[in-house]
Amino acid sequence: MNELVQKLFETRNLSDSELISLIENSDPDTSSELADRADSVRKKYYGKKVFLRGLIEISSYCKNDCLYCGIRKSNKNAQRYRLDRDSILECCRNGYELGFRTFVMQGGEDNFYDDTFMCGIISEIKNKYPDCAVTLSLGERTKKSYMRMKEAGADRYLLRHETASEELYRKLHPHNMSLKNRKKCLFELRKIGYQVGAGFMVGVPFQTNENIVQDLRFLQELRPHMIGIGPFIPHHDTPFADFKGGTLELTLRLLGIIRLMFPDVLLPATTALGTIAPNGRELGLKTGCNVVMPNLSPVSVRKKYDLYDNKICTGEESAECKVCLQRRIESAGYEVAVGRGDFATL
Ligand code: SAM
Ligand code: FES
Repeated sequence: MNELVQKLFETRNLSDSELISLIENSDPDTSSELADRADSVRKKYYGKKVFLRGLIEISSYCKNDCLYCGIRKSNKNAQRYRLDRDSILECCRNGYELGFRTFVMQGGEDNFYDDTFMCGIISEIKNKYPDCAVTLSLGERTKKSYMRMKEAGADRYLLRHETASEELYRKLHPHNMSLKNRKKCLFELRKIGYQVGAGFMVGVPFQTNENIVQDLRFLQELRPHMIGIGPFIPHHDTPFADFKGGTLELTLRLLGIIRLMFPDVLLPATTALGTIAPNGRELGLKTGCNVVMPNLSPVSVRKKYDLYDNKICTGEESAECKVCLQRRIESAGYEVAVGRGDFATL
């Protein structure tokens, strides 16, 4: 057994230089030891259960201009859409029938979805489906807005910190955005009582292994309930079109490291991971992941939520997506969990 894998498993921590050497270690034996350890730890906390989250992509409008993202404001070729209240409720009705007990409303930062709209739809979903959790992923909003939506019934909030390095943050975002505010939002969300998800992209342009260690340290400070990491994938209409994407190997290594550092965290095998390799999500599940997020958005808009090139699951109906993922989960040796799938210690 690799010494650092063993130490990380036993102590849940390593020094910065040890973390860097594990991140850089591409020896296949070490990667498989890491995956096996990660798998045994996830099984200790969650058994073979994999939680499904129904993802509803509510808007492709965004007021931000993140350099990596296909729906950034200045992408004049992006196709924009918004789902209205009835369409969102229809996605939930469909999802509930398919067995989903968490609905994730995600979108660009779009002022159309003000607090009145969001609180209305959140309370309507909670009234109709009291056994379901509502997750939001709508970017940076005011503390008051987060509080209102929590009072309306929202349970969880996903907001990747993207990078914990000031220097890298400035290379990935325009000057009117700030890492300080993003971190502030995350701490506020936690304090208000949301189950919080943070995370970052693997292999984003200019990212160093030291930056990744900074991300892991930030996650140790925030202690989120969920950690979303996936490979960066270039989008042809962004300033990062010609950069290389993140690799499967590094993403899997980081998933394993994260599972050992945060044994009880909810860890999704992301769509981006499934996009860079046909069996990416299965490999993610075998390396500590315990969440997948099938798409519940109407098929008519799926191609328009175009964050990166060649995104998978844009042609399938929700029911097909659910069946496909269920099959993938079972073929990897795991089982679909029924219920909301809250953080292990809640
Ligand atoms: N607007 C919300 C926010 O800022 O959190 C949610 C939507 S945003 C598009 C969701 C996530 O997509 C981001 O946190 C980012 O990490 C990821 N993403 C954006 N562009 C990507 C790309 N080119 N490759 C991989 N992931 C990407
Ligand atoms: Fe959507 Fe496979 S998960 S088609």
